[in-house]
Amino acid sequence: MKVTHKAFLAWMAGFILLVPQTLFAELISGYEFLSEQTQEMQLDDFQNPGYLLVESGLEIYEKSGENEQTCAECHGDAGKKLVPESIAQYPKYSQALDKPLTLRDQIQVCWTERLDNFPLLYDDPELLALETFIRNKAFGEKVNVDIDGAMQPFYEAGKKLYFTRFGQMDMTCAQCHDIYTGKMLRGQKLSQ
Ligand code: HEC
Ligand code: HEC
Repeated sequence: MKVTHKAFLAWMAGFILLVPQTLFAELISGYEFLSEQTQEMQLDDFQNPGYLLVESGLEIYEKSGENEQTCAECHGDAGKKLVPESIAQYPKYSQALDKPLTLRDQIQVCWTERLDNFPLLYDDPELLALETFIRNKAFGEKVNVDIDGAMQPFYEAGKKLYFTRFGQMDMTCAQCHDIYTGKMLRGQKLSQ
């Protein structure tokens, strides 16, 4: 894509003017940027294809591991003992492992240490299904990642990356998700 000098300057001006406003305003959920039709689909448990994963995640949750234990034995039937507020806080710092864990990492810890199973690859469909099932426990809960204390350097590093140009298009995340929020990119509306 060719960008003229003038267009680039106009774009830069937009960047400088818009970024502070978009950064400090209250963020809107990606749900608000979906078409009405997709919103309806998301709210309908039968139409929403994500629920196929929630269901297969539940099956794995109830399946015995190498040591004959199941997730349910510690976390209750269908995850009843899991705390939704806590699930919505991931990624979270693990004092024991001295590093931040995504929800999927934490499930992997239980998968290997509590069920004695062989570790799964990070993008293994079984692990993704388990994560979707567990994450769905916190449906409607506000995402609430603690960015203080031990998490602070990770937050700062992520923030720096967010504003750094890289990748094939040499763009920053902010270009699409702060400056062009609400605009269409092919068939999709850019969320914050
Ligand atoms: C060229 C434009 C572009 C750039 C650059 C870009 N994205 Fe996106 N991103 C999209 C589009 C399009 C979607 C799908 C529509 C939406 O939800 O915004 C998307 C979706 C997302 C979503 C899911 C949002 C939701 O509500 O479901 C996240 C999270 C995200 N991007 C993060 C990032 C991060 C982090 C970066 C930088 C590494 C980045 N994006 C860079 C275009 C972009
Ligand atoms: C023997 C008991 C036991 C079993 C079995 C077990 N866990 Fe855990 N789980 C724990 C304990 C204890 C923690 C607290 C953190 C830690 O020590 O890793 C935990 C933490 C978690 C958390 C984080 C909860 C939070 O609020 O932060 C999730 C999610 C989780 N386990 C999912 C699973 C899944 C999925 C399975 C099955 C693959 C499983 N666990 C099997 C004991 C267990």
